[in-house]
This record gives sequence, C-alpha cells and structure tokens, in this order.
Amino acid sequence: MAKDYIVKDINLAAYGRKELDIAETEMPGLMACREEYGSSKPLSGARIVGSLHMTIQTAVLIETLVALGADVRWASCNIFSTQDHAAAAIAEGGTPVFAVKGQSLEEHWDYLDKSFMFEDGPNMILDDGGDATLYVLLGARAEAGEDVIPVPQSEEEEVIKKQIAKRMKESPGWFTKVRDQIKGVSEETTTGVHRLYDLHKKGHLPFPAINVNDSVTKSKFDNKYGCKESLVDGIRRATDTMMAGKVAVVMGYGDVGKGSAASLKGAGARVIVTEVDPICALQAAMDGFQVTTLEDVVATADIFVTTTGNKDVIRIEHMREMKDMAIVGNIGHFDNEIQVAALKNHKWTNIKEQVDMIEMPNGNRLILLSEGRLLNLGNATGHPSFVMSASFTNQVLAQIELWTKGEEYKPGVYILPKHLDEKVARLHLDRIGVKLSKLNPDQAAYIGVTPEGPFKPEHYRY
Ligand code: NAI
Repeated sequence: MAKDYIVKDINLAAYGRKELDIAETEMPGLMACREEYGSSKPLSGARIVGSLHMTIQTAVLIETLVALGADVRWASCNIFSTQDHAAAAIAEGGTPVFAVKGQSLEEHWDYLDKSFMFEDGPNMILDDGGDATLYVLLGARAEAGEDVIPVPQSEEEEVIKKQIAKRMKESPGWFTKVRDQIKGVSEETTTGVHRLYDLHKKGHLPFPAINVNDSVTKSKFDNKYGCKESLVDGIRRATDTMMAGKVAVVMGYGDVGKGSAASLKGAGARVIVTEVDPICALQAAMDGFQVTTLEDVVATADIFVTTTGNKDVIRIEHMREMKDMAIVGNIGHFDNEIQVAALKNHKWTNIKEQVDMIEMPNGNRLILLSEGRLLNLGNATGHPSFVMSASFTNQVLAQIELWTKGEEYKPGVYILPKHLDEKVARLHLDRIGVKLSKLNPDQAAYIGVTPEGPFKPEHYRY
C-alpha cells in the first residue's frame, strides 16, 4: 500500500513507542476510556480529522480514539510543536499523520488538507485553535462565491488563501460536501473557542461544537498547571539562562498567565504582570505580583512572555526599548501576540532550532523563542502527560457525545455537563493517591447536592 503519512523519520517509531508506553502510565483518564468503551466502540463509523500538536500525549489520545472505533487522520496545529518520534510511532501504527517539527507554513496547510483526505471525507473534527474548522468553513464560503480573504493580513493568510484556491481547483465542491457531513467539532483551546463563538454569532457555524477548553478539568488544569511546568522548561531548553533573580514580565493573568507567572516565580525570577482586566489584575496583585504596564518595565526586564491570546501585545516600539539580550517569547496560541513581522528586516542570527538572536537598530540584541510561536511546545515538549490526560479525556467524551448524540444538538457551542467534568477529575485521583471524603445524605441535603455529585452549581467558578 502507498505510504499515507508524512513524518520526519519513520525509524524514530521505536523510540516514540517507548515514550508512548511511559506516557500511558501517566494518562489514567485516557486509559480508563479505553477500558470503559473499548468493547462497545462508540466511535465506530466516526472519521475524525485531528488538528492538534502532534506530541507523545496526543499520540495516546489518537490511539484511544482508534481503540474506541474511530478512523483518524492527523495534522499538527503548529509548525514547531510536533515531536517527530511521536508522529513516527503513530504512522507506524497505521494511522495517517502529516506532521514534521519545523514544517513550513505552506506544508502546514497542505498537511492539514491531507488530514481531511478520508476516502469518503471526514465526519468529525477535533481541533486545537480552530484551523481545521476554519479551513472547511472558509472553503465552503469561497465555493459559494464569497471572497473570504480579500486582502491577506499576514503571510499565513496568503498561504491559506492559496491552499483553498488549490483545493477548489482540484476538487470542485469538495469543501461544501465536507462541511455538510461534519457532525460536530470539539475544540481544545481558548483561542479556538473564541473563534467558534464568533462564527456562531455571525451565523457561520453550521454544526454543533463542544468547547472542551472550558471544562473545569481542562482550562483550570492544563492552561494553569500545565504552563506552570512547561513555560520555564521551554525557556531553559532554549537559553539555559539563570532564572533566579531575573526580572520576568508576564502579559496576561488568565489561566495561562497564572500558570506562567507561577512557573517563573517557582524558578526564582522576580515576576511582574500586565493586565487589562481589573479582576485579573487584582488577582495578580493579591497573589503577590507587581502589576504595571509593559511601558513601565520594558527597558529594565530580562524576560518577556505573552499569554493573552490577543494580538500586538509586544510591539516593535517595545522591542526597540528592551535591553541587550532580553528574552522574548509567547505561550499563547498564535504568534501574533508579538510583532515578529516587524523584525523581519533586522539582522537575525539563528542560534539553534527555534532560537534566534535579533539585532536591533541601537545595537541591542534580543533572543526570540520559536519565532513568537508558543514556546512551551516549540522549545520544549509541551505539558506533561498527566495534565494532558485530563484535557484529552474531555476530548474523548466530547467526541463520543457529538458522534452518538449529535442530532440532539442544534448548531452552537456547548460545554460538557458538570457530572462528566467531575468524572474526568475522579479518574485522575488514584494515580496521585488522593482520597475523597464522602458526604452523608444529611450533609448533602444541607448544601443542596446529592452525595454522588455534581457538587457545585453551574455558576460556581472554581
Ligand atoms: P484567558 O482569557 O483566561 O487569559 C488571557 C488574559 O489576557 C485575560 O485575563 C485578558 O484580560 C488578558 N489580556 C488580553 N489582552 C491583554 C493585553 N493587551 N495586555 C495584558 N493582558 C491582556 O485565556 P487563557 O486560557 O489564559 O489562554 C491564553 C492563550 O493561551 C490562548 O491563546 C490559549 O489558546 C493559549 N493556550 C496555550 C497553551 C499552551 O500550552 N501554550 C495552553 C492553553 C491555552
């Protein structure tokens, strides 16, 4: 059979498999899904296109979806986040995967396109950041005659426009057909969720979507505790710089910002936070961080990390003021938090993969991590398995829900019910030796819940 994958080196599969075996021991939620649903195979008939960082942890997710009966094709959602040995192990296991660490933007969108190429087209999307959803919905609108990207605003938009035009030329009507057979999408991250709500508001979302990010066991764990471990990991692997004593600025104090600030503080850095939201600013202050504007500290700080999911947060005028050898990176989903494009005409010296030194007009040099793309996955290996198990167990439950009960949902964006959120947490307790106390019926009635849960009302914020 012709090879149906693109990976860096298939010979890395054995190494990938060994790390997959270890990861499984740290992913009790996913392994419990295999045990609970492995024989009933609720995902039989599902053809899932996955667009999510192709890491070891994702490989365990993919094999869980397959164990539950799904056909899967996969691409990474970021050009730098693939772990080539994980991709090789998945390809060797027979699941088509198109992902190489360091792929170009053109390859990135071509690989995403390839991940859609089931013989009968996909009928489910598992997305991280919304690129797979965007691709099919933009393409279908283009087929309906709309000029969907009239003036590309970035190099990436130019590439998307070309890729859509190419697919339309090769297979007329393809986007519309695929869009019409998608039963639903489960979305992993804050930025992708923003995109989904926006699509729904504009009347452009034709199928139901489950917002996995806002399961408590996702955003309050992966975004926070995940970044707490993986942010400093990325900076260290990239630079080997001494953290203790350095002044680090974290822009944004949402879930990712909270984890990132804690990460840097834990390593001994003196952390300053910037925020636009008074609630998050107050939280940062009461967690013990100085909160001020970037302009106030830009000339004196050593390390800058954006965590906002917003654009143009570190701008060229900021970078011009930074001191020599300041480290600049982003951990939010897209690279537009830092105005990297404005640095293109400066002198770049590549230090190693995903680390560049850039000379500013005043002679100061900046160390830019992963060209402004999320540095914990570009410069390190992302979050540890245990926390990704919680995220991905939500993904599996969301896929089962949409595949088996999709008709019950109107187009729109939903979150999983609280009893499933609590189930995901419960599945992770044994592995770390947590013992739960139990409510007696009298206590349960007193606080207005049942002894089995859910233990909190919907409006509770954790
Ligand atoms: P969030 O919405 O909880 O937090 C973002 C915070 O940034 C908000 O509090 C907001 O007020 C603040 N903010 C917005 N514009 C700002 C500005 N100009 N200056 C200062 N603060 C500003 O979102 P969350 O969940 O923390 O996610 C942030 C980003 O990280 C998203 O793009 C998300 O997709 C991504 N993400 C990345 C992960 C990774 O492993 N690298 C993991 C999870 C999420």
